[in-house]
Amino acid sequence: MHLSVIGCGYLGAVHAAAMASIGHEVVGVDVDAGKIAALGTGRAPFFEPGLDELLATGLATGRLRFTTDVAEAADADIHFLAVGTPQAAGGHAADLRFVDAAIDALLPHLRPGRLVAGKSTVPVGTADRIAERLFPTGAVLAWNPEFLREGWAVHDTITPDRIVVGVPDGARGERAADLLRAAYAPAIEADTPFLVTDLATAELVKGAANAFLATKVSFINAMAEIAEATGADVTLLADALGHDTRIGRRYLGSGIGFGGGCLPKDIRAFAARAEELGRGESVGFLREVDAINLRRRERAVQLTVDALGGRAHGKRIAVLGAAFKPFSDDIRDSPALEVAVRLRGLGADVVVTDPAALDNARAVHPQLEYVHGRDDALRGADAVVLVTEWDLYRREMDPQSAGALVAQRIIVDGRNCLDADAWRSAGWRYHGMGRR
Ligand code: UGA
Repeated sequence: MHLSVIGCGYLGAVHAAAMASIGHEVVGVDVDAGKIAALGTGRAPFFEPGLDELLATGLATGRLRFTTDVAEAADADIHFLAVGTPQAAGGHAADLRFVDAAIDALLPHLRPGRLVAGKSTVPVGTADRIAERLFPTGAVLAWNPEFLREGWAVHDTITPDRIVVGVPDGARGERAADLLRAAYAPAIEADTPFLVTDLATAELVKGAANAFLATKVSFINAMAEIAEATGADVTLLADALGHDTRIGRRYLGSGIGFGGGCLPKDIRAFAARAEELGRGESVGFLREVDAINLRRRERAVQLTVDALGGRAHGKRIAVLGAAFKPFSDDIRDSPALEVAVRLRGLGADVVVTDPAALDNARAVHPQLEYVHGRDDALRGADAVVLVTEWDLYRREMDPQSAGALVAQRIIVDGRNCLDADAWRSAGWRYHGMGRR
């Protein structure tokens, strides 16, 4: 099939490359000339494992190309809309200006019978509004939310755990679903569930999924707060809960909480939209989910200050991690970086290291000191704060050799990912978050 992908960020670039890898002819479109130039030479403008290889193969076969000119997308059977929907400045709602701009640009090139498939995360009701705009062109709108995780984006796009398509009623909707079935044929042949819904349900599935995930993380972090007050251990609690298959252990990772370009802004936008619909009370708990999450960052700072005897001023603190999670260079709403910034704000001499996110972090927070090597960060530190659970810190950092580098053996494990006994046996004062 001929496909276009409008918007080539974390979502669109991976989608374009993945669709080319399963045999489609794909053109990726973005207004950012720098991004398009990089993608056109097979270089992802962000860190995503496996993406460079996928881009290179797609470009070499000639099935994948990138352009800033949306007119080049005119031949596509399906136009996937993959632009960002950030949090609006000064509010909690989603900023839909990139969605609207993409539709403005695409409208003159749409032909009857063609399909626009929205993948961006949008407030429920957006699709109806776009569908009205498309109506005079004879093109049809479907909503096809994306559930990929950064760091696993290639895997999640090629082998998703489900495909959801929201379509309008009647024959136009059936044809839209058939086009999407054809686009995703390999995944469907591999028995991936393919769910056809109305437009509103498809929009809601995405918001609800992220709201549920955020709630799960904040639930275990709320339990960590209780554990802190009682001497219980939240990681053992999570293990015990997780054996109940109705609950499951995944996404019960406690610590400094969730961040990134999706979960935080999506729960706020979801709540803001519910308010507009007069149903704010239905998701009032999302305000608590957000508040619990933000408290954990402050808690990590407080633990560090307490461990240093009540004063961080003038102390050298090694912060391990800047990305919002491992296998990503994304620092949007990163809890890791916020902990570093707050410690710096208390007058600590903070040195940050991260295998992928240093350039992004430096651009936003030039006041922090950055070093590439983990051991360079550890050298002379009065305290070590682990905030992104890269294997380099979680699995490959030996307490004995790390201990030889630091000035004081104090470690705050902001992701509850280290073996506390092993660190204590090596003479460290280990502080988890809600761990004994
Ligand atoms: C999330 C969802 O998982 C995807 O399904 C969704 O498609 C995506 O948002 C999106 O809307 O685009 P992502 O933000 O890439 O994906 O990352 P996650 O792996 O979900 O992690 C989000 C945050 O939660 C990270 O800061 C992570 O450290 C934190 N987290 C995750 C925890 O604190 N504990 C956990 O147990 C799991």
